[in-house]
Amino acid sequence: MPVDLSINYPAASSLINRRQLIGLTGELLKKCGVAEYTVSLHLGNDEEIRSLNRTYRQKDSATNVLSFPFGEGADSSLASLPVKELGDIVISLDTARRESVEYCQTFQHRLNWLIIHGLLHLLGYDHERSRKDEKIMQAMELDLLAFLQTYRRTPMPHLAINVDHVATIRQARGTIEPDPVTAAALCELAGASGIVVHLREDRRHIQDRDVLLLRQTIKTRLNLEMGANREIIQFALGLQPDMVTLVPEKREELTTEGGLDVVSQKKKIGQTVKKMRSANIPVSIFIDPDFEQIHAAGDIGATFIEIHTGKYCDAASDTARDQEYQLIAAAAEEANRIGLRVNAGHGLNYQNTAPIAALPTIDELSIGHAIISRAVFTGIDQAVREMLEIIRNAQF
Ligand code: PXP
Repeated sequence: MPVDLSINYPAASSLINRRQLIGLTGELLKKCGVAEYTVSLHLGNDEEIRSLNRTYRQKDSATNVLSFPFGEGADSSLASLPVKELGDIVISLDTARRESVEYCQTFQHRLNWLIIHGLLHLLGYDHERSRKDEKIMQAMELDLLAFLQTYRRTPMPHLAINVDHVATIRQARGTIEPDPVTAAALCELAGASGIVVHLREDRRHIQDRDVLLLRQTIKTRLNLEMGANREIIQFALGLQPDMVTLVPEKREELTTEGGLDVVSQKKKIGQTVKKMRSANIPVSIFIDPDFEQIHAAGDIGATFIEIHTGKYCDAASDTARDQEYQLIAAAAEEANRIGLRVNAGHGLNYQNTAPIAALPTIDELSIGHAIISRAVFTGIDQAVREMLEIIRNAQF
């Protein structure tokens, strides 16, 4: 194995994914033309790195990353190394965490940068040698970061608005108002980039008529949320929405609870994805921020995943929320890395959306309940504009 990863950090399991780290470090070795060499990557704490810094560099302080080349390290000398080993990279996760906050970066982004920095040192680059060397190394770092991150190209995530709850109010009386089709038009006028509706098997809110009219009237993009059941699949194939989002659906639930378990239903969901793709309908799969689910979604040909933000939104403490946030950030990075595009949603509101919107890996936010609830008091136009303002201001 080209990457020998060791970790000595208690909170590591909630911060990092071994498979992802080994995968991306391996990709970096390939990109740098040293795929046949091995590298040791050790993730520890401040105390550990401080002791190494003191012993080997006579500096009695913690630092973010240290590199220990096996040979001289210079590119030209690699060929003369007796074994195909580049050396060791040691990273302090304590410092990486602090720096991610200080530089307003996701933890994963910071970690990627530190690995790249350490690897370039092993390859003989040295920013401390001269101003010219510093520039060369910085340019390489940017190149390699861009290679790892195929982020969205728009400056802010799109806002897609779910208008199901307008239909919920209508269905409470079984009349013709308020009309979700009118709501969708007003959302678009206020700046929404897409409209989402969930056509449930029990038709508790959105009706077939709504979706058919929306298909004819909306000017942005129609995202049809649906369970993978035969009747709805046929409906979707006839409708030709701009995309579908596959969600788990239980009759007794109030709203979608939890992401779809793609791992255990790979065959069934894979068949649905295939049907949609053969009709040129891109598929998103609503999943928890879980690496196994992400890889399974990638394996069966999804174009997007939508990361379930419910646990982040419902977290009972700041620590729990921060942990959920890091999971979402890492999941979105990983999905991007394997070529999936990433949406996010569920439970997002005017208080908790900004950090999710700030993630450069997220293409689109899908928000319903909070915007429709605010619209009851402020009108839809203002409710949409206020959310757009939060998303716009959330950028790094
Ligand atoms: N994304 C998915 C897959 C959903 O099922 C829902 C709820 O319908 C949402 C996003 C929007 O969630 P909320 O209404 O909590 O904003």
